[in-house]
Amino acid sequence: MLNKKVKSVILAAGKGTRMKSNMPKVLHTIFNKPLLGYVIDAVNNIGLVDENFVIVGHEAELVKDYVKSNYENSKCILQTPQLGTGDAVNKVTPFLNGFDGYVIVVCGDTPLIEADTLRNFIEFHDNNSADLTVMSAIFENPKNYGRIIRDKNKKFVAIVEEKDATPEQKAVKEINAGIYCITWNKVKEAFNNLKNNNAQGEYYLTDIVKWAVQQNLNVQSYILENNNEIFGINSKLHLAEATKILNKKSLIRLMDNGVQITDPDSTFISPETTIEADTLILPNVYITGKNKIGAKCKIGPFAHIRDGAVIGNNVRIGNFVEIKKSVIKDNTNVSHLSYIGDSELGSHVNIGAGTITANYDPISKVKRRTIIKDGANTGSNSVLVAPVTINEMASIGAGSVITKDIEAYSLAITRAPLRKFSNWVKDKIEQLGGNK
Ligand code: UD1
Ligand code: CA
Repeated sequence: MLNKKVKSVILAAGKGTRMKSNMPKVLHTIFNKPLLGYVIDAVNNIGLVDENFVIVGHEAELVKDYVKSNYENSKCILQTPQLGTGDAVNKVTPFLNGFDGYVIVVCGDTPLIEADTLRNFIEFHDNNSADLTVMSAIFENPKNYGRIIRDKNKKFVAIVEEKDATPEQKAVKEINAGIYCITWNKVKEAFNNLKNNNAQGEYYLTDIVKWAVQQNLNVQSYILENNNEIFGINSKLHLAEATKILNKKSLIRLMDNGVQITDPDSTFISPETTIEADTLILPNVYITGKNKIGAKCKIGPFAHIRDGAVIGNNVRIGNFVEIKKSVIKDNTNVSHLSYIGDSELGSHVNIGAGTITANYDPISKVKRRTIIKDGANTGSNSVLVAPVTINEMASIGAGSVITKDIEAYSLAITRAPLRKFSNWVKDKIEQLGGNK
């Protein structure tokens, strides 16, 4: 148990010029989830933080919309113009009148940060009765980071930005990870004293360290173990690199859990997907969003599961199959070339090759549900026009377009009867003046 309440400030006002995009940097996605979503989830998963303040500026409306529709406990605060990280955190001051807990500060563009790390960091701050704790990390190549400056007794006394650093300071390999824990009522005064007389003409958050040391406050540093966690996204290349790191972690977690993955290099599975033991994932499978997949399934090669899939045990999802927001019960097969969206499939269902659930009504723009009950099957190339229910053990003839519910144990076929025209081709050729 902590001694204090905790709130967070998430810095997300910057433009991210190097992304070369009209979209705000923090809304760029990995596995379909915005970078900012990873950071807010990590903060919420600490289990200690009751409210987040997200500092927005560049394309603020878009960021606000995302936060508002996904995170009830998070409030966006506008920072225009963006005068630096110190100015950004200062924007929350009016919302923290009389608050006597801790404020943690994190960046919205570091999606690999983990809740456990943040929790240990806050507990370290609390156990040491610190007034200010800065997360640091050791980098062989510390370029572009603020350097942790210590006096001759190794006491942490300041952070100096690379652009303001002397050659001696630049040689320091301990850097500022950009994550802070602040005992608010002890340090809030620092924000009235920030100056922008530095190389970038910005109000630096990092200057609160020097201020706190001058006030004889308890200033601590906490060294991060895994440097990947503060990997900051500044470019599309960084996005790809972060995707690989997250994916690798996700695949290792699954394999440790007993999932067999034939080719980790061509398999992408989102961190929020759970899969039970002895499921086999074949090459070129792409799974995003939140999904639950059971045991002994066979998935792929070339399968795409988009989000919201709840798949039972011993289910087959074969090549060129896309599944979205669907429940699929045990022992069901969707083996080839299908789209199953907004659907509920019972157990022992067999979906014929090329079956499509037509779930989207482009006129009203609503998605409708398809229900296929236990033991039913669809013939190849069936189209199931939602909303529609195929009841137990019903059978759909190949090539049918199903627009009405089908009763249990019955057969439904909509295709025109087969007609044959003998010698039709031969007659055509003769009409045209005969064959060569
Ligand atoms: C900052 C730190 C540096 C540290 C590094 C770690 C300062 C002065 N420097 O540098 O010591 O090593 O992070 O990554 O804090 N932002 C706003 N409003 C602003 C300015 C920035 O919201 O007015 C946001 C940005 O969108 C970004 C974050 O704050 O998410 C960090 O800002 P950035 O300018 O990238 O800081 P760095 O130069 O990386
Ligand atoms: Ca900067």
